[in-house]
Amino acid sequence: MADSPTAPSLAAAVLRASRRLVILTGAGISAESGVPTFRGAGGYWRNRSFMELATPEAFAADPRLVWDWYLERRRTVRACEPNAAHRAIAAWSQLGRGTLITQNVDGLHERAGTSAVVRFHGSLWHNRCGECREERLVADLEYPELPRSPCCHAPERPGVVWFGEAIPSEAVKSTELAVAGADAVLVIGTSGAVYPAAGIVAAVRSSGAKAIEVNPEDTSLEVDVALRMPAAEAVPRILPSR
Ligand code: OAD
Repeated sequence: MADSPTAPSLAAAVLRASRRLVILTGAGISAESGVPTFRGAGGYWRNRSFMELATPEAFAADPRLVWDWYLERRRTVRACEPNAAHRAIAAWSQLGRGTLITQNVDGLHERAGTSAVVRFHGSLWHNRCGECREERLVADLEYPELPRSPCCHAPERPGVVWFGEAIPSEAVKSTELAVAGADAVLVIGTSGAVYPAAGIVAAVRSSGAKAIEVNPEDTSLEVDVALRMPAAEAVPRILPSR
């Protein structure tokens, strides 16, 4: 694995040559926008770890508690702006040379202008009907009364994937298509601790394609080139925009 002063130019050359790139992002890409990551200090709320809150069981036991956590995350994200890494990906996405898959639910890629985002873990900005599972886009930041769906008038839940739940089938299909044809993978700001998302890098690499990582910290992901730099610094340097 190359983690050296020449790593940025090596990464840039691979990305310039790529015609079917898969980009996988995690919470680290939004860190410089001010959104807390999960496995850092921001992973706790009212003394509970996110792993206790992001489960169907937690929601069934106390929907108000779980909704309040998600509403607070909405308010945090609302006050943040996309950073230079989100913007570089938005410019690259206009070239039509690959697929962006994100584990993030914050919507910052969309706000930066990337239209075709594969949302692997759902969206903070969608409510899902507890009856028919239809989702609606919302901008709500407070719920004095817990929300009910306009379709079935049933209680709604956040439109995100919780621990123990399946990845949305559309996201799985888009990911399989993207991975099957990929000639490189760029993984940005993820600890690689959560599957199946973490398996995307190995899946692309198994066909001989190069994997490039941007993360200031070491991770357990196996890659060919690692840039130990923050995303907002590294991504605009290495990703082509034309
Ligand atoms: P984590 O919080 O596990 O990891 C964030 C990663 O970002 C770490 O490896 C940091 O080193 C890195 N990082 C921090 N600052 C960075 C920066 N400025 N630039 C680049 N990288 C930086 O977040 P994820 O890997 O995204 O799932 O977590 C995966 C999933 O776990 C999330 O999608 C969420 C959570 O459970 C669901 O909600 C289903």
